[in-house]
Amino acid sequence: MSTSYRKWLNDKLVKLQSIACYTAGASPEAIAKQMGVATKQVIKLNFNENLFIPRVKQAKLMKELADEIDLRLYPEDEDQKLREKLSTYIGATKDNIAIGNGSDELIDRIVRLFVEKGETALSFSPTFAIPPLCVKRQEGEYITVPLLSNLQLDVKGLLSKFSDKTRLLYICSPNNPTSTQYKMEDVETLAKAFPGIVILDEAYGEFADYSFVPRIAEFPNMIILRTFSKAFGMAALRLGYAVANPELAKILTEKAPLPFPVSAFTLRMGSKMLDNVSLMMDSVKQVKEERRKMIKALNEIDGVQAFDSQANFLLVNTEKSADEVNEKLLKRGIMLKKWGKILQYNNCFRVTVGLPEMNAKLIEALKQIQEE
Ligand SMILES: Cc1ncc(COP(=O)(O)O)c(C=O)c1O
Repeated sequence: MSTSYRKWLNDKLVKLQSIACYTAGASPEAIAKQMGVATKQVIKLNFNENLFIPRVKQAKLMKELADEIDLRLYPEDEDQKLREKLSTYIGATKDNIAIGNGSDELIDRIVRLFVEKGETALSFSPTFAIPPLCVKRQEGEYITVPLLSNLQLDVKGLLSKFSDKTRLLYICSPNNPTSTQYKMEDVETLAKAFPGIVILDEAYGEFADYSFVPRIAEFPNMIILRTFSKAFGMAALRLGYAVANPELAKILTEKAPLPFPVSAFTLRMGSKMLDNVSLMMDSVKQVKEERRKMIKALNEIDGVQAFDSQANFLLVNTEKSADEVNEKLLKRGIMLKKWGKILQYNNCFRVTVGLPEMNAKLIEALKQIQEE
């Protein structure tokens, strides 16, 4: 290898190493080992998963699928069939829908297609962590405007940041981690004022008060992202979809991914979950009921504040330091997503609405920790 070639490779590797990336954090197994408890005793409330989907019923659908599918073959028309079923479920046409390997992968597709080196994406803070990673990897700039103190959108602040280099606006609603669904008129104002692509991430749409999906025809620059990872309880399989005008949906389907981006198994499992949509609907009802109870119980603990939520998780702030609370929860085998400071709240956590027995243990633990 010539010296100049070696230098190119070294410089390239240094540059690639510096790309920020996502890390999922410790697994329940690792936490259990660390804390000396059994893995099944760990209470995992840090990933906004839907534990109310009955596992046995979901496993039955998977077993049926195992008999039906021929894994030796490439995917055939599974994508078409899923889009047809989705169009009935969401009330848009199948040409409005692009399917992806989780909605994360769709965010990546959109950013690769629409943001180039030196261009800008705008969003709010705090919000979901993946879009900035994708934008920065494109060597784009990611500009954020803080949410208002009531956790709603600062529409004026954001409008003032638009420039002729802005290509993308990312709005997550209900927002991760604040669990707030933004006012419909604010999202509408931004989407109408913004000349570039607007991603409206509705990953938690099923738990929320409203959706923009029925209004997609009004917003030719909007791409709404939905997922099977949350309400449908299929996070392990990686299945998401975008709803957009047919031209954008076609571009997302044809121009960004490699062939067969989603496995036939996953696509068919998505269709089966839609054939059995009551499993999801019932679980969402239970999540909402449990969410209500949990907010009430948490707010009854001195030094703990839980905010209203339109998602399957809660934003919780503690008087004691988030580090201390987190450490003490981990010792009890309880995993939350520690956020720390969010706006005027110093010790925030994002907490999945878990099964009643899990939530009861969390509430009891927080009571003890606050009293210590
Ligand atoms: C707002 C938001 N969007 C997208 C995702 C990723 O979803 P998926 O599993 O479909 O990639 C998450 C996951 O936590 C999320 O919170």
